[in-house]
Amino acid sequence: MRSSIRTRLLVAFLLVAVASALGLSAYSLSEFEDYGLHKLEDRLESESLVLAGMVAAQMQANGGEELSAEQAAALNTELTRVGPIIYSHIRILDGDGEAFVDSASPEDVGAKYAETPEVAKALRGDRGAATRITENGRVALYVANPIIVGDRVVGVAYTSATTFSIRTLLRDYRLRLGAAVVLFTLLALVLTELLSRWLSAPLRDLARTAVAFADGDHSVRVRPRGSSEIRALADAFNAMADEVQTVMAELKEEEGRKSRFVSDVSHELRTPLTAIRGAAETLLDGDVPEDDARQFLSTIVRESERLTRLANDLLTLQRIEGATGELPISAVDLTEIARRAVEGLAPLTEARGVRVVLEGSAPRVLGDRDRLQQVFGNLIDNASRLTPEGGTVTVRISAEGRESVASVLDEGPGIAEEDAPHVFDRFYRAQASRDRSTGGAGLGLAIVAAIVRSHTGTVTAARRDEGGTVFTVRLPSMKE
Ligand SMILES: Nc1ncnc2c1ncn2[C@@H]1O[C@H](COP(=O)(O)OP(=O)(O)OP(=O)(O)O)[C@@H](O)[C@H]1O
Ligand SMILES: [Mg+2]
Repeated sequence: MRSSIRTRLLVAFLLVAVASALGLSAYSLSEFEDYGLHKLEDRLESESLVLAGMVAAQMQANGGEELSAEQAAALNTELTRVGPIIYSHIRILDGDGEAFVDSASPEDVGAKYAETPEVAKALRGDRGAATRITENGRVALYVANPIIVGDRVVGVAYTSATTFSIRTLLRDYRLRLGAAVVLFTLLALVLTELLSRWLSAPLRDLARTAVAFADGDHSVRVRPRGSSEIRALADAFNAMADEVQTVMAELKEEEGRKSRFVSDVSHELRTPLTAIRGAAETLLDGDVPEDDARQFLSTIVRESERLTRLANDLLTLQRIEGATGELPISAVDLTEIARRAVEGLAPLTEARGVRVVLEGSAPRVLGDRDRLQQVFGNLIDNASRLTPEGGTVTVRISAEGRESVASVLDEGPGIAEEDAPHVFDRFYRAQASRDRSTGGAGLGLAIVAAIVRSHTGTVTAARRDEGGTVFTVRLPSMKE
């Protein structure tokens, strides 16, 4: 199993804490030991110097003679008494390196030390010092200073001490230090746990949120907090989540649109197909009077034409909406295009007994001639179909600000306010024209809207105050 970031932080902090505690302890212990040894050597040095001075003074008082046996015995008694108190072992040697005073063991009086390096050095008139291990395994320091009368070395003041006391002290100190390190480590452990909890909390937050998001809840977001890196991560996550949520919503909507479209199309296909099938079956049964047979045949032709038109319209819509900006674009005059559309529809509008009036002008626009003519065609078709016989459809071209505007006004039943935004949907038919005989599939305005959109324009429908409906197309004017 992968360890969590908390565990890793914990281990890392602990390692650092323990390593620094141990390092610091080792360093301070060795410093401490050095210091102690130095102090001890200093003490032995001063003791031996004082002693050398005092014995030299005594000899001077004797007129340069060696100490008498009584004087030596008195000194021995005195030093033997203070020896245990001052923790130093003090010997006084004569000019041959033979001890005549020994503070620790009077039976050692008479022992010879001339061979000992530090004593040999002192006998030559210099200060001697040494560190050695004693028989019982202790480290001992030795300091020897010459006793000088006149310019003659007449003896040696020889002091020594074992480091026993420092070592004991240090052992004691080491124990206490160990305890402190353990305590310190425990404290570090607690602090580290708290710290790592605090540091990793935003990350755990992020992980929890990401899991929830992956499980399908696209509304979850992270609250950015913690270090700047984690904040950046949280911000990036939130941005990504926004993006995904939007795309998912769009996909869902697209999905809905598609399935609606498919069911609309099949619904539209079913009606003419049912009519064709009914007529064909009746004809197949035979025994149909001539007149009725013609009637059925013309139904078949009419419904087939309706299917063809439906197929064509769907194809047109598909082409416009799928187009990627490769329309054959040129500068076009809306009045001229409207005139062509009116002329093209003249047979139809005349048959409906509706007059079509074209008026006004506007700056040219950039666009596809044929498609824009289709816009006018579809709008005039609807308008003339819904205008009663003898009525008038007006196509008005004008300029408003930077836009060239084309309005198609009719004298029909008008349009309900709630229908106005929806008439541009595919297959939408307002209640007033539910009757299929008055209209087509309900794709005409969807095509209009798609064409206008592809020209970066807008189209709206509204009821006229004086009755009837007005469709308004606005397209950006060219600078002229
Ligand atoms: N001038 C108008 N006045 C009132 N309602 C209208 C007008 N033009 C369109 N409509 C409403 O909008 C609906 C959709 O029109 P659209 O042109 O898209 O379809 P259609 O004319 O019914 O069929 P198609 O154009 O495909 O032959 C119409 O059925 C009608 O209810
Ligand atoms: Mg139409």
